[in-house]
Parts: sequence; C-alpha cells; structure tokens
Amino acid sequence: MVFDLIIQNGSIVTPQSTSRNDIGIIAGKIAVVGNLDGSEAKERYNAAGKYVFSGFIDEHVHSRDPGLTRKEDFTHSTMSAAAGGVTTILEMPNSIPPVKDAASFHARAHVLESKAYVDFGLWGMVLGDYNRKDLPELAEAGVIGFKFFWGYALDKKTFALIYNFSASDDVRMPPDEGEIYDAFQVIGQLHKPVAIHAENSHVITRLTIHELAAGNVDYASFLRSRPSYSEAMTIQSGIFLAKAAGVHLHIVHISSGEGVELIKEARRKGLPITGETCPHYLVLSDEDYPRVTGNMKIYPPVREKHHQNQLWEGIQCGAIQTIGSDHAPHEEKEKKGDIWSVPAGACGVQTLVPLMLNAAAQGRVSLNQVAALLSENPARIWGMYGQKGTLLAGADADITIVDMNVNRTLRKEELFSKNKINPFEGMNVQGTPIAAFVRGIQIMENGKLISGPIGRLIKPSTSCQAQW
Ligand code: NCD
Ligand code: ZN
Repeated sequence: MVFDLIIQNGSIVTPQSTSRNDIGIIAGKIAVVGNLDGSEAKERYNAAGKYVFSGFIDEHVHSRDPGLTRKEDFTHSTMSAAAGGVTTILEMPNSIPPVKDAASFHARAHVLESKAYVDFGLWGMVLGDYNRKDLPELAEAGVIGFKFFWGYALDKKTFALIYNFSASDDVRMPPDEGEIYDAFQVIGQLHKPVAIHAENSHVITRLTIHELAAGNVDYASFLRSRPSYSEAMTIQSGIFLAKAAGVHLHIVHISSGEGVELIKEARRKGLPITGETCPHYLVLSDEDYPRVTGNMKIYPPVREKHHQNQLWEGIQCGAIQTIGSDHAPHEEKEKKGDIWSVPAGACGVQTLVPLMLNAAAQGRVSLNQVAALLSENPARIWGMYGQKGTLLAGADADITIVDMNVNRTLRKEELFSKNKINPFEGMNVQGTPIAAFVRGIQIMENGKLISGPIGRLIKPSTSCQAQW
C-alpha cells in the first residue's frame, strides 16, 4: 500500500488518549493509524515533538455573507479559520437573506462553496410562525441544526438582528413562548438539535431604558442591563419547552454561572441538553473593559470574574460540551462609540484554538479535553461524527498539528478577517496550531495559507439524538 501522505512521529491526541503514532492517508481519508515505519508514501510530514489532533471544528461563526460583506465575507472568515487551525466551521444563518427555507439554503451553499478555504456546514434559522412550515424542507436540504436568536428583535424586511433596540425601530419582535413551543415541536420531529441565543429581551429592554434614563455609560451599567438572570430565565424556559417538545436543545455562548447550573441540573435528569461557551467568557472579565473597550461588547456580555470561574467548572463537570468562537465581526468604525450604540460582536475564529491551547498549557484543561471540546463533541452533536471529529480509519483526513512550545503574542495584523476587531489583542499564548489539513490537503503551514478555496459543504449524516 502506498499512502498519499504519512504524518509521522507525532503525539496523537484524542479525547481518550495521547500516544506516539503515525497516520497514513489515502484519497483524502484516514487509512491507518499505527506504526508506519517502512511504509511507502508520496509525501511525508514530520510531526516529531508536535501534537496531532482531529481537525478542529468551530461550530459558531457569523461570516455575514451574503448581505453584510462590508463587515466580513466567507473568503476572509474561512481564511481566518484555516490560519487558526480550524478545518470545519458551522456557519450561522443570520445572513441577508437568512437561511430560512430550502431555496435560501441552496443559494447560500452555492455562493459559499466557491469561497470556502475550510469545510463548512450551514445552520437554519428559526423565525417562529413565519417559517415553521419551512423547517422540514430546511432539514431535508441539509442544515446541521436550527438556531433561534431568542432575545433579539429582527429587522422587519431583512431579518437582520437589531443589536440596540429603540422604540422607533421597524422591527419584528421576538416570538412568544407559545410560538417557540410550536417551532420546537416541529424540530423535535425532524430529529435535529435546536440551538438558542439565551437572553430575555423583555427584561433587557426595560433595564436598558432605566440605565439610559439615568445617563449611565459605564460597563457596569451595561452589565446591569443584561444581568446573568436574564440569560438564566431564557435557558430555563428553553429547557422546559425542549423537554415538552422532545427536542435536543443546545445553549450557545453560555456566559453565566447560573446558566451552567441549569444545564448541569437538566443533564443530571437525563435531558438532551448540551452547552457551548466561548473563549471570551473564559479568558476575559469586566475588569478588562477599560483596556479593551468597545471590542468587548458582545452579547451576552463578558461578566464578572466569578462567572468565568464557574464556566471553567462547567467544562470540568461536563455541563459544557463545546467551545465555539462566536466569530461576529463588525466594521472598525462601527465599533467606535458609547457602549449603548456600538453593535455587539467581535472576531474569534482565528484565536479560538490558540486560546484553548494556552488554557491547556496553563493546566485549565487537558489536551485530550481540547480534542473533545473542539472536535469530537461538536462533530457528534451536529451529526458529522465519523466523517469529522475523529482520527479513526475512514474519517476525512482533517488534521490540525500543534506546537505547544511556541509562545507568541496575539496581534490583529495576523488576522485574515476583513475587519480585525477582537478583544484578545496583545494576549500572550503558549501553544499554537502550526499546520492544518482538510481531506488530506495541507491548507496551512505556520499561519500561512498554502492552498486555494478547497472547502466543501458538509451535511449531517447521523441523527444527533443517538449521539449526544
Ligand atoms: C452576533 C452577531 O453579530 O451576529 N453578535 C454577538 O454579539 N454575539 C449575534 C449573536 O450570536 O448573538
Ligand atoms: Zn448569539
């Protein structure tokens, strides 16, 4: 047997173990993991002294394409992913138009496939009664799951998220719980997971009005306007409705200790509830605001330090299964202004892996946990496990190679995103991805891109219900 490529002498990291081994690749698939001394190969990659992971998956990316490409586009977001050691992204549906029916799914898939530097899956958007009847065809078309932006009012014409609600806006108010129940019922029957942005818009709108009336402009007032209980209230409602509808609920970007507790409790009861948090909630707190300013305005907000600690505990106790970046760029000029007027969101796809490797270097998590959080778990939840998320024979040869001896400073100039707004500027990290392969093709070497846009649309092949 002649391999197309052998990745040799690396330490292979899976959620279960770390071991010295070689990986033999044929026709874009992993053929053998084992000792391949003496085997023939057309190409070799020497991974001696490095760690070899199943390619990392960022399940939470907003590439803004089509519709808001002045902020970001798929070329730049997937280049950013590749440079940061991410080999698959799951693309959020809040483009303009949103991915709300089969026609918009196919149109978007077509546009994005020509630009993708990494493989990608697409989320479908839940718009309550407006598209409930279209959810079955969206599932059929191949969405990985459904996203409900609970807590956001939407632009009436474009369905774009309204970041800073004002009474004069021409908006579509968030659906009520009854409408959400009906949507969850449909999704449950489709055997797809539904993910929620969890914030209670009614509470937040009131509290924001109070803070504005008092003339407050500091970060503490912003935090008071979006308290942790407003996240917990929505998570709690979501858990009850998901239980009633028999749907797998995934809570994205958990930012609070209360959120962790609710998910822990629901999972203890055996409910199919999973959770994601993001690097910004794990490495930043309100104390960083004076330094980072508007680049730290992200929904839900980065909170006080004790939430950060509870989120780390949530990872350790299994309440949180995945880490997504919530890559959500805006134009640099839009992010200048007071805390109430700038849009929420920042870049993250390129810094996701380095920040989690740094956490491993600091002993916050093990490298095996990084393999679970950033590869196996999202692959399982989103129905891709077997093709993605594993180094078992037969899987796509998506591989990220990591050097834990590299110490570097995160610099915005290195980001491939169109706008490089991010809250991690100047942070020092130990450990970095130094090479990435998608289906056996090397796409990145030392942070440089070395292939064209070879990414493909990936559709889920397994039902999450059996997998989570
Ligand atoms: C996201 C965006 O801009 O698309 N912004 C954010 O602050 N997280 C939307 C979202 O995920 O809520
Ligand atoms: Zn969100």
